[in-house]
Amino acid sequence: MGCFLRIDWGTAMDIKVKVNTLLELLRTEQRSTFPQALQFKERAPNRWYDGVPEYLVDIYDWAYVNPKWVAWLDQNMVVRVLLFGNDARLMRIYLDEIQPGMKVWQVAHVYGDLVQRVAARVGPLGRFHLTDITPIQIEHGCNKLAAFPWARVIRANAATYDSGADYDLICSFFLLHEVPEEKKYQIVDHLLECVPPGGKALFIDYHRPAWWQPVRWILKGVNAWLEPFADALWQHEIQDYASCPKAFTWCKRTFFGGTYQVVRAVRNS
Ligand SMILES: C[S@@+](CC[C@H](N)C(=O)[O-])C[C@H]1O[C@@H](n2cnc3c(N)ncnc32)[C@H](O)[C@@H]1O
Repeated sequence: MGCFLRIDWGTAMDIKVKVNTLLELLRTEQRSTFPQALQFKERAPNRWYDGVPEYLVDIYDWAYVNPKWVAWLDQNMVVRVLLFGNDARLMRIYLDEIQPGMKVWQVAHVYGDLVQRVAARVGPLGRFHLTDITPIQIEHGCNKLAAFPWARVIRANAATYDSGADYDLICSFFLLHEVPEEKKYQIVDHLLECVPPGGKALFIDYHRPAWWQPVRWILKGVNAWLEPFADALWQHEIQDYASCPKAFTWCKRTFFGGTYQVVRAVRNS
């Protein structure tokens, strides 16, 4: 006897509502089960967790805090896959902003060899400061930059770090989508405060993909499951997080059907 399953998906509007409900369910499910599912039976020693913000431990323990996972994830291929092969061109835009001898601050570590490439580009006449808030990321950053005496790795919060230096360029490479909303305001404002006249801040991050971009649906699922703070960048402009946007000249470019954005803010003289 044949069995015929009839599915009534309703109108296009109904489908949208159903997808959104499903994503909300996934989000709730992820919060309640995913961190436990990925936690190691024996948590790594506490020195890896001391002073690490709650949002990182709750949401990104496996991605950025637990050394066992980080050892495995810190490679170019991981970044390439995460960015659907757009890593090279997005990194190139950042590297092209750097002239030898510049003072550059990168506000958080990035997997793979980006930080060595930045340090090499800055060169011995410049200065490169890399900050991160997580102990294991600092350890990886130190190992990578040991051969570049003009580079410093500092454990610090991007929202408060104050080196007193006049940076020519401050770069946030895919940090904003991983921090809670109030931190986005603090980080954007703080980075902009640290930009002297003529200097610039560069924000490279996710953006709302065009309706026709197929990865839009993959990213909607990923955001609902793993990245609860990322959706805000689909809804808001980065300059909306700044309390003094008029002090800067802003330029925004998007890539890969709107999936990524590069926002440049140059402080007016
Ligand atoms: C730059 S983001 C994402 C980078 C990208 N997904 C990659 O492939 O590496 C990840 C880094 O941000 C760091 N981070 C998160 N919140 C931070 C904060 N408030 N200040 C400084 N670093 C922070 C994490 O410790 C982590 O190393």
